[in-house]
Amino acid sequence: MALKLPPFKVPALSSLFSSSRMALGSRCVFSAAQCSSSSSSTALREGERPVPAGLSLGHLTRPDFPILYQEVNGSKLVYLDSAATSQKPTAVLKTMQDYYEGYNSNVHRSIHYLSTKATYEYELARKKVSDFINASDPSEIVFSRNATEAINLVACTWGLTNLKPGDEVLIACHFPQIVTTVAEHHSAIVPWQIVAQKTGAVLKFVGLDHDELVDLAQLRQMLSKNTKLVVVHHVSNVLGSILPIEDIAIWAHEVGAKVLVDACQSVPHMVVDVQALDADFLVASSHKMVGPTGIGFLYGKIELLSEMPPFLGGGEMISDVFLDHSTYAEPPLRFEAGTPAIAEAIGLGAAVDYLSGIGMEKIHEYEVSIVDS
Ligand SMILES: Cc1ncc(COP(=O)(O)O)c(C=O)c1O
Repeated sequence: MALKLPPFKVPALSSLFSSSRMALGSRCVFSAAQCSSSSSSTALREGERPVPAGLSLGHLTRPDFPILYQEVNGSKLVYLDSAATSQKPTAVLKTMQDYYEGYNSNVHRSIHYLSTKATYEYELARKKVSDFINASDPSEIVFSRNATEAINLVACTWGLTNLKPGDEVLIACHFPQIVTTVAEHHSAIVPWQIVAQKTGAVLKFVGLDHDELVDLAQLRQMLSKNTKLVVVHHVSNVLGSILPIEDIAIWAHEVGAKVLVDACQSVPHMVVDVQALDADFLVASSHKMVGPTGIGFLYGKIELLSEMPPFLGGGEMISDVFLDHSTYAEPPLRFEAGTPAIAEAIGLGAAVDYLSGIGMEKIHEYEVSIVDS
């Protein structure tokens, strides 16, 4: 006999709060005006001089990062390892502290005030990420532990489902191929090695050209109807080069392949528009975008996410649970089993606000000017 347990239905975000104070889109801790104004209104620390007109974005935003106000070996700390992980502005730290001090509670499972507020803020963070990368809908954003986990999610769900030998689609292709470049981060390679071992898919690697940039001509040449997936970085953490994802997506889609974009090094530094790129999947890590560790995200086109099986089993990701089987929630909750990293997700939302408040064009222009100087 099957025992049916009552499911918890997630209320739509818009129905959680109707007051204008809590309305969607309420944002911003760092106004764009601050960037262009002649002097910063950010509170200055003891010993800091006001930022006069014409000074760089770096000088303007430095007061937002408390960690930088310390001496190391007798010198003011300068941090240049943001590609590994970025420092966190006060706005992000404070947002996380506000959660723990003001409304620490679980999400999606209780109806009391704290939980409703936590659920609202958690789902608002998803909406902020969705808007930040111009996804069609917040349901296309799955929170993960980091980009690595997001890639593994795609590998273990889409990959194992679509690349398994014996699968009807794959049988028709005999040797489905995954194309990836030799400049990829290990996180973008190893999950596919595991999937290839399990499914019999073949990994093909695109080399570098004479300028040590990804050889796009070779990539294009290697695409064939056997290609099922192209795994590609947006900005390389090894080379610093930017790949033309729009073109790669067109070429890949021409042969029916999907494109997974590792955007770890682009999302924090430039405008990323998943619809303009026409990426099928895209991943990034919060900790590289002035947000907390322990949270990242997967963007997936909703029609792909909807067809993918769950990644992990447990609470949150189910619709109905019977003793002998379960039915699964719609995306994105289908892929978020168990209590998620709530404070971290809300902190990521604050990081998105912080970056948006400055403006991604401005951030990119500033970084290009540093490289050019
Ligand atoms: C291009 C790229 N992809 C993936 C990753 C993995 O990110 P995480 O360790 O946050 O999962 C990194 C981290 O350095 C990276 O630079």
